[in-house]
Amino acid sequence: MSRRPVIAGNWKMHNLQKEAIELTNGIMQELKSEEKSTLPEVIVAPTFTSLYVVNKAINDCGCGKVKLAAQNCYFETKGAFTGECSVEMLKDTGCEYIIIGHSERREYFGETDEMVNKKAKAILLNGLIPIICCGESLEQREAGVTDYHISSQITKALRDLTSEEVSKSIIAYEPIWAIGTGKTCDSVEANRVIAMIRNVVRKLYDTTTADSIRILYGGSVKPGTIKEQMAQSDIDGALVGGASLTADSFVQIVKGAVACGV
Ligand code: PGA
Repeated sequence: MSRRPVIAGNWKMHNLQKEAIELTNGIMQELKSEEKSTLPEVIVAPTFTSLYVVNKAINDCGCGKVKLAAQNCYFETKGAFTGECSVEMLKDTGCEYIIIGHSERREYFGETDEMVNKKAKAILLNGLIPIICCGESLEQREAGVTDYHISSQITKALRDLTSEEVSKSIIAYEPIWAIGTGKTCDSVEANRVIAMIRNVVRKLYDTTTADSIRILYGGSVKPGTIKEQMAQSDIDGALVGGASLTADSFVQIVKGAVACGV
């Protein structure tokens, strides 16, 4: 079964509006000569404050090659939740995807598996696609509990979702020790964990659902690592942090995925 690859740039807490517009325009400029049908799904995730202007830049270009994601959301629809943004508000700003459960949100902002599950439900209910992050710490890897930990994160994140909802969702496997460290997880090992995640989905649902869900690798992805990663059987793309902050390196990653026969 062929799954359309995804290359998503997680800009984290970087870029003022002007920089976000420049980066978006730079990416679209460099993708100009690429045939749209040959490209992976290219997604950028700016901060909340730049979503509006990045969406405008994408619409002004009209090339349809870049899609918008938010880095977080709240699961309630509206109300007294100071500082939060609902899925509907993010949809209203042009978002088609929302990253949830990133390890930085889990570590610094107390996001739990239960919250990830509630967010996934709210996102899917509004017709958007969740990018559900999971991953083990170095301590967990050294203690040999990687697979157990990730199976548990995924099982809890997907609780009560239908197979149709899961089929269109995206999971990102991001070993915490590989994020922002320059230490990329070995591609064969990343593929092993991702195949294990697909198996968890198979057990919870069925083979069709497991074969449909896109599972990305994230953690120090660079232009020099993407081809080997994309050549693996189960890696469907990348969630890119640091290397998504310049148009040149991000587009090199996108083109690296194209070169692997998107
Ligand atoms: P990195 O970040 O590419 O800078 O390691 C990845 C992520 O946190 O999504």
